[in-house]
Amino acid sequence: MARPSWDDEMRDAAMETLDSLHWVKGPQGKAFGEEFSRYCGAIQGTPCQSGSVALWGALRLLEIGPGDEVLVPSLTYIATATCVSLVGAHPVFVDVEPDYWCVDLAALEAARTERTKAVIGVHLFGQLCDSELQSWCENNNIAYIEDAAQAHGATQGPSGKAGSLGDVACFSFFPSKNLAVGGEGGMMMTKRNDLAARMDALVNHGRDARLESHELGSNLRMSEVTAAIGRVQLQRLDGWLHRRREIAEQYRHAFDNLAGIQLPKIRNNTQHAWHQYCMVVKSPESFTAVLDEQGIDSRVYYSQPCHRQGVYASHPQHNATFPITDAIASHLVAIPIHHQLTESEVQRVIRAVTIATSVSDGVGK
Ligand SMILES: Cc1ncc(COP(=O)(O)O)c(C=O)c1O
Repeated sequence: MARPSWDDEMRDAAMETLDSLHWVKGPQGKAFGEEFSRYCGAIQGTPCQSGSVALWGALRLLEIGPGDEVLVPSLTYIATATCVSLVGAHPVFVDVEPDYWCVDLAALEAARTERTKAVIGVHLFGQLCDSELQSWCENNNIAYIEDAAQAHGATQGPSGKAGSLGDVACFSFFPSKNLAVGGEGGMMMTKRNDLAARMDALVNHGRDARLESHELGSNLRMSEVTAAIGRVQLQRLDGWLHRRREIAEQYRHAFDNLAGIQLPKIRNNTQHAWHQYCMVVKSPESFTAVLDEQGIDSRVYYSQPCHRQGVYASHPQHNATFPITDAIASHLVAIPIHHQLTESEVQRVIRAVTIATSVSDGVGK
């Protein structure tokens, strides 16, 4: 499903950073934040230890805490919701769109109260959230946090990249992501001057240059060696995205006429980042078993929507019904799409999916 990239330039960048003995709080992290935020069209990026930490930091920057509500899709990775609970606020789960599987605007409108302080819009699998989400948030005085953990390089219109669409955006550089750093890593990003001024301090105990703490933070800094690797990966990102998009197009072409699977759609006027290529299938167990027999790796996303997980056993929405999320969660099967797939591997995946749709019992939506 993933094959992290590692080459001589990344190795040299890592070794040079280690040899410099400047392992923390140095020029690499600063440059990585500047370069990736410039790539995304934001004004500041602050590297940190993970995407989960970036989400926590985004909520702290927006001063969200006890008594506040934050709207989150339930069809996402659990960190999108738990960051809200970790700052003492209340996650309110909402359903996703039938076509694009991102947070649904009508569901947001229905769930909004006077306590709603933010929405976390997840660009799921690399598909950008509805562009209307920005104006909906502005009109309702609600902050828009982009969970861009899966969407490095996803683009809206000619140049509106993930990371520049919300008040704060959060990226993950986990090894399977579109851009990685040779370990754990994440980044907070903003286009707002007032938040930019506080972002670097937040990952450094909220301290100023004289080492006095002004707000609650912690040591959430990224190490210099991972930042140095991330900078080299960033130079490759557009080429890697091009390859992911090429493979997605091959899959669409090959699978378009196969009965019984719902293929991913691309929202109008956007470029998908294809972190995952997920299809809705009726019997994921038998479908993935056939892929497995054919030697093709796959994953099911997400076996349990967030609100149904044990951590939210006492949440008032634990047993709530969300028609779209309930219909597709655990039926989304992801097949390999990373940029290092060779042409013959792509053809093997296509062959295996074609066989799975013909022999797997009851495949179909
Ligand atoms: C949608 C989403 N949000 C947040 C995260 C958390 O990122 P990390 O694993 O770097 O903490 C992930 C990671 O998989 C994710 O997919």
